[in-house]
Amino acid sequence: MSLADKDRIFTNVYGYQPWQLSAAQARGDWDNTKDLIARGRDAIIQEMKDSGLRGRGGAGFPTGMKWSFMPKQPPLDAAGNPRPSFLVINADESEPGSCKDREIIRHDPHKLIEGALVAGFAMGARAAYIYIRGEYIREAEVLFAAVQEAYDAGLLGKNAAGSGYDYDVFVHRGAGAYICGEETAMIESLEGKKGQPRLKPPFPAGAGLYGCPTTVNNVESIAVAPTILRRGAAWFSSFGNENNRGTKLFQISGHVNKPCVVEEEMSIPFRELIERHCGGIRGGWDNLLAVIPGGSSVPLVPAAQIMDCPMDFDGLKALGSGLGTAAVIVMDKSTDIVRAISRLSYFYKHESCGQCTPCREGTGWMWRVMERLRTGEAHVDEIDMLQQVTKQVEGHTICALGDAAAWPIQGLIRHFRPELERRIEERLGSLQQAAE
Ligand SMILES: Cc1cc2nc3c(=O)[nH]c(=O)nc-3n(C[C@H](O)[C@H](O)[C@H](O)COP(=O)(O)O)c2cc1C
Ligand code: SF4
Repeated sequence: MSLADKDRIFTNVYGYQPWQLSAAQARGDWDNTKDLIARGRDAIIQEMKDSGLRGRGGAGFPTGMKWSFMPKQPPLDAAGNPRPSFLVINADESEPGSCKDREIIRHDPHKLIEGALVAGFAMGARAAYIYIRGEYIREAEVLFAAVQEAYDAGLLGKNAAGSGYDYDVFVHRGAGAYICGEETAMIESLEGKKGQPRLKPPFPAGAGLYGCPTTVNNVESIAVAPTILRRGAAWFSSFGNENNRGTKLFQISGHVNKPCVVEEEMSIPFRELIERHCGGIRGGWDNLLAVIPGGSSVPLVPAAQIMDCPMDFDGLKALGSGLGTAAVIVMDKSTDIVRAISRLSYFYKHESCGQCTPCREGTGWMWRVMERLRTGEAHVDEIDMLQQVTKQVEGHTICALGDAAAWPIQGLIRHFRPELERRIEERLGSLQQAAE
């Protein structure tokens, strides 16, 4: 099983061709977009539902269904005027390991911009806001220029692409905070406030940006939409296992011979993904220790369990982990696994917005115990105590950053408890030796 070139959506992901409009059009983007829009809102949403596309931002929520939550008729404000709806495109991409949206933006931006128009039309949005992470400076430059090209060519603005629909796209640069990738924090940040998640409900489809109906989607979810509509739901859903359909950008980093971003068929087995596109594991397959398969917030999976696992939402869930953004972090036996997870704990502590006590206090507490485990200074009871604290943080916070901080530690304890105990014993042994 491997994706044929003819079935790739992102045909310029490596930037071998220019990103500019004329080259994008030669690759098939903006090809009669007017006709896609003429199908109507319901038909577009139905096609997206039938395609089986699940959100590519991490949680895997079905995209067509999400679009269908937007109101069919605009709600009215206090004066009886219709309120606008908005599409927010999440280009924050701050999850450690994730680096796919940046490839789309810098090499294939018109796929995203055309997707913004088609998706925005399908959900009745007046405009799209693309929120791009602050550190993506060159990418933002490309995006600004590509949006301008689309305006100049009449593809955006009044009567966008000759469709009769008026539509704007705004690019907004973030300031470099991981939490602004969370959808409601992103909305707050767009409104000019501190990027802190909102309590849900109300959900953004009811009251989002400026209190108006809003859908937040990941860059990849939006960028694949025009191709799905052109080639049909049946084509897209012919890839991957049941409930895990389509093609997917995998981002493989760490101890493989050739780290890369590659579009592949969903559900490709792990070993095949690595052999085919990354030239295998550094030092051979026996040298593989563990894999974090979906970006830093999902639990790691030990080598033996992941080998034949289908790389999709359900396959990785069955192993107690997740596909997340499909940012596959490969670690060979040279990795200090406790140090690696402790470093991630520090990241979550640093990025916590501090609104809720379990996350604000818990992330710092968990990191400090992780450091004690790393050096072997902890008492063996602290392993269970740490596990309990992760359970008190998980599911008890406003947003999923709390879960993201808890899960990597839970994965470590589940699969590497003997290594944690070994360090403690080793340190005790050396202390005893020194005392003798
Ligand atoms: C702490 C945190 C950070 C997140 N960061 C991102 C991000 O950088 N990019 C992204 O697309 N989604 C991110 N998400 C998920 C978004 O909240 C949201 O679910 C997603 O953008 C929805 O898009 P999709 O349905 O197309 O997947 C994050 C969630 C949390 C809790
Ligand atoms: S879970 Fe953490 S990041 Fe999310 S709202 Fe609470 S304190 Fe902020």
